[in-house]
Amino acid sequence: MRTLTIRRPDDWHVHFRDGAVLKQVVPFTARQFGRAIVMPNLTPPVVTSAMAAAYRERIMAACPADANFTPLMTCYLTDGTEPEDLVAGHRDGIVTAAKLYPAHATTNSAFGVTSMERIEAVLGAMAEHGIPLLVHGELVRDDIDIFDREKAFIDAVLEPTLARFPRLKVVMEHITTADGAAFVRRHRPRVAATITPQHLIYNRNALFQGGIRPHMYCLPILKRETHRQALRAAATSGEGGFFLGTDTAPHLRHLKENACGCAGVFSAPVALQAYLRVFAEDDALDRFEAFASLNGPAFYGLPANEERITLVDRAAACEALAIPGEGEILPLFVGEEVGWSEIRRV
Ligand code: NCD
Ligand code: ZN
Repeated sequence: MRTLTIRRPDDWHVHFRDGAVLKQVVPFTARQFGRAIVMPNLTPPVVTSAMAAAYRERIMAACPADANFTPLMTCYLTDGTEPEDLVAGHRDGIVTAAKLYPAHATTNSAFGVTSMERIEAVLGAMAEHGIPLLVHGELVRDDIDIFDREKAFIDAVLEPTLARFPRLKVVMEHITTADGAAFVRRHRPRVAATITPQHLIYNRNALFQGGIRPHMYCLPILKRETHRQALRAAATSGEGGFFLGTDTAPHLRHLKENACGCAGVFSAPVALQAYLRVFAEDDALDRFEAFASLNGPAFYGLPANEERITLVDRAAACEALAIPGEGEILPLFVGEEVGWSEIRRV
């Protein structure tokens, strides 16, 4: 049976939610990863350092005792974000980064930033203090096709912002296009990107396979095959600009199988398994450690995890997750036998 021993990986983009869902989903990420960048798009969103500190406590309370897991917190930028609060939160080790959701781009983004001019002072402070800006990179406008939102955002928003703030560090979250990968390479090393498993495995046909498939719907939406191939090449290259960020985004089943279904793929139970499927298929297992365990910490200026794990290519069933009193959540690969399911701590 194939095995792979690597430094313990990190997940640089997760949604844990809150309450009953948080309790059930945190252990999956905590079992697989040493650290995770936690997204702030709760209702209401995590907009201050104090809210981030309180949210971190709730996450820690949901962690299994033996997990050895550290959540890295983010603040949700709004037109009213106070630069002083963000800088103080970063200095005190509470806040690792700030997340830019363009208003109305995705789940719970109604309080997002309405124009970059409104956050000039915040961006200036982030550049000065080395606080990374994490962006949901989609320009949402009626006259822009949903499949073109990423490139439109790069051209209209990201390029001018990088020019305006030459020292600002940016992670383009969950890139989905060849344009996103080219953008990262153009601006290395101060720009990097996370890539989700679903964008490496599926193209947009998966949304309509025999009917409409709400569990394949996430934002940014799946793209055409040429983009998927460009993302696979980027992820498996081992290049420092690309690292693991699942964008695991749990939604209750009845809210996805709905006339207006929520965006998000819940991948936490099979996160490493999904990426390993890709790296094994592309004969790139020797570059998995760079993508999963080394490139992310190097970008964030953190040490790689000391702990090592051995991944074993053993199949296991992937099942629905029950949320007591609320319903169930269907993970990526639900109902399938999934390889690479054994993780040993060494
Ligand atoms: C995320 C969510 O549900 O919070 N959904 C998604 O489709 N990825 C939000 C996000 O990351 O865009
Ligand atoms: Zn996300």
